[in-house]
Amino acid sequence: MSRVLLGVTGGIAAYKACELVRGLRMRGHEVRVVATPNALRFVSSLTLQTLSGQAVRSELFSLNEESEISHIELADWAEVSVVAPASAGFLARIAHGMADDLLATICLAARAPLIVAPAMNVNMYRHPATQANLDLLGKRGVVIVGPDTGELACGWEGEGRLVEIEKVLGAIEQQLAPGTYRDEVVLVTAGPTVEAVDPVRVLTNRSSGKMGFALAEAAARRGAEVILVAGPVALATPYGVERIDVESAEQMREAALQALDRATIVIMAAAVADYRVATRASQKIKRHQREALTLELVRNPDILAELVEREGRRLVVGFAAETERMLENARDKLARKGCDLMIANDVSRSDAGFDVDRNEVWILGPGHEDVEPVPAASKREVAERILDRIRRVRDA
Ligand code: CTP
Repeated sequence: MSRVLLGVTGGIAAYKACELVRGLRMRGHEVRVVATPNALRFVSSLTLQTLSGQAVRSELFSLNEESEISHIELADWAEVSVVAPASAGFLARIAHGMADDLLATICLAARAPLIVAPAMNVNMYRHPATQANLDLLGKRGVVIVGPDTGELACGWEGEGRLVEIEKVLGAIEQQLAPGTYRDEVVLVTAGPTVEAVDPVRVLTNRSSGKMGFALAEAAARRGAEVILVAGPVALATPYGVERIDVESAEQMREAALQALDRATIVIMAAAVADYRVATRASQKIKRHQREALTLELVRNPDILAELVEREGRRLVVGFAAETERMLENARDKLARKGCDLMIANDVSRSDAGFDVDRNEVWILGPGHEDVEPVPAASKREVAERILDRIRRVRDA
């Protein structure tokens, strides 16, 4: 459990801070909220207090609150401070070291890492003053998350939206995570591959990419540089991850090989299509021209086996998606592909594996009896256990 100080400044996006408090609490963190008086015009102190389970502080000089905990104690208490949403006015104040309200004073006094998630009107964001302030803050080591581009509450369209709360959470946890992966470059493949049959039809599989994305996110949170080669999936890029989108197995192979030289750890979570059509039709195959259709399929390259063969000492982890005799097949696959660890999962189940949020896996190491069960849990938690195991192998 970590101690997160959340600053909320005045702006319509202040209501999203409630979701952030909830997200932090659900991840087991302790949260104390400091809201500017303007923020409390947009969102009630009672809401923030109820969600955080702590009194919300706002004024610099309030006798009651001061008797409880001073602004310096609050600054010292925080393991990480995050201001979301951060208004243009707030950014200007901290960029210039002003200590004219409680939040700015705490930011000046705190030694913990500071994250800001700007949210404002597009013209305020683009104004040279705001850009210069952000530049200055970035140079001082403040982590700036966003903003996003899109429709703004003020009616304008453009940059200035608060980033998704998941991204702010990712940035916070990255600051909090012990840097057990700081020296690693982790290459993760995720999702299905899609093999074109003709211009409109494809062959693919049920992989959602969730396990691979959870691994990429967890590795980034632990301080690794992460390259994520992703097949077509409907998932947002985790915070701090470099993403390369691909479609076919051949494209995935190419992208993975290109990133390989940089990688110290490779995790092949992708469900690579084993076959592709021998000749892709250049025009749509017409139904009325044939009664039945036979497609000739040829085998795709085995990316994992090829990565293992390549020069360089790196740890390679494979996934074995099985529907029967899981451990036996996975053990066989580990030997055949020559990787260091094999993660076995039963994809015939409806409550774990493909296309769901939970998973139950077995981590197989080189020894014949080396099987570590990871009980059913969210893919996020399973990802953490897999990374723990990889760390142990690296450190051995
Ligand atoms: N894999 C790969 N390239 C392929 C097929 C699979 O790199 N063309 C990788 C997957 O990313 C996974 C591992 O190999 O990490 C095992 O994938 P899986 O589909 O379970 O095994 P296959 O090699 O396809 O074996 P089989 O079809 O016999 O189960």
